[in-house]
Amino acid sequence: MNLGGYSMALRPVSRMLSAVLALLMLVGMAIMGAVRAEAAFTFAAAGDFNQTSDTAASLATAASGNDFFLALGDLSYGTVGAEGVWCDFVKSYVGSSYPFELISGNHDADNADGFIRNFTACLPDHMGSTGDYGVEYYFDYQGLIRVIMIAPNLTIDGVNYEYLQGNSHYNWLSSKIDQARAQGIKWVVVGMHKNCITMGIKSCEIGSDLMNLLISKRVDLVLQGHDHVYQRSKQLTCATEGSYSATCVADDGADNAYTQGAGTVLVVAGMVGTGLYTIDTGDSEAGYFAKWMGDNINPTHGYVKFAVSQNQISAQFVRSSGGTFSDSFTITSSGGNPPDTIPPAVVTTLRPLTTP
Ligand SMILES: [Fe+2]
Repeated sequence: MNLGGYSMALRPVSRMLSAVLALLMLVGMAIMGAVRAEAAFTFAAAGDFNQTSDTAASLATAASGNDFFLALGDLSYGTVGAEGVWCDFVKSYVGSSYPFELISGNHDADNADGFIRNFTACLPDHMGSTGDYGVEYYFDYQGLIRVIMIAPNLTIDGVNYEYLQGNSHYNWLSSKIDQARAQGIKWVVVGMHKNCITMGIKSCEIGSDLMNLLISKRVDLVLQGHDHVYQRSKQLTCATEGSYSATCVADDGADNAYTQGAGTVLVVAGMVGTGLYTIDTGDSEAGYFAKWMGDNINPTHGYVKFAVSQNQISAQFVRSSGGTFSDSFTITSSGGNPPDTIPPAVVTTLRPLTTP
């Protein structure tokens, strides 16, 4: 009887303990959620630098708070042999050990206005990259992001970097995207110099095979330069060169908020320091874009800052000089694991682009 009384007396206590434990667990989960929502790190990206007062204005803040900077090609617009002058110019702002990560533009390729191998000698890799730094490489950071940098439609050291379905460059890129997903790396970003769809003056120089691969793999962010403008796309499940197909749009981005995995967001950011190009709002591909800036529309120089956490990439156009353009958007995790395979239905909706 005594034992029974003892047991009866314990029940309310154990219920109370259970309730306290449950409450503690809830508080813990809320705290963890809040921590996960905070940015783990921030990086920046843009291309088309030159060595102007506008370039300097961007470089002055480029390293501030950004763990690394993705330089999307077209570096000095100078001469072969004088790359060190440009590197010194950059380092005078960001410091000599800052990860200012390079990829070649057309002005840095063979027979151009500076050579990528000379730039990479004076601004070397600081991210422990794998592959051919400046040309075709990748690195992972904090287990949260894989950054893959490629130089499509450029010739470097006599090698043509074309990403055609089934060729070695295409297969390398495809496998590095798949590998990141398989390893549970949350975000995959692919950076390059040249464009495909754009409202600027360029055409689909990277080719349809590469554009379709990036979209079909649901690369979270594709970063480009080359067109000296800023454009942020809608979230796309396909893209047709030279025409707009509304069925390609997973999220129009009008609320500046995308959900990870629904499609790919393209950012063209060729506006650091060289002369801007005009935006054609009547362009046949204009329907793919949510936001734009150019020489004829609030011309503003700067770069894009990306705050990355497990749950979100939050992007912001950072104005350095010129006009007053601004933009910001988020890509937020849908909550589950990142997609590791392409839904078959998506592949069948892809429309081939014509290769120029
Ligand atoms: Fe350029």
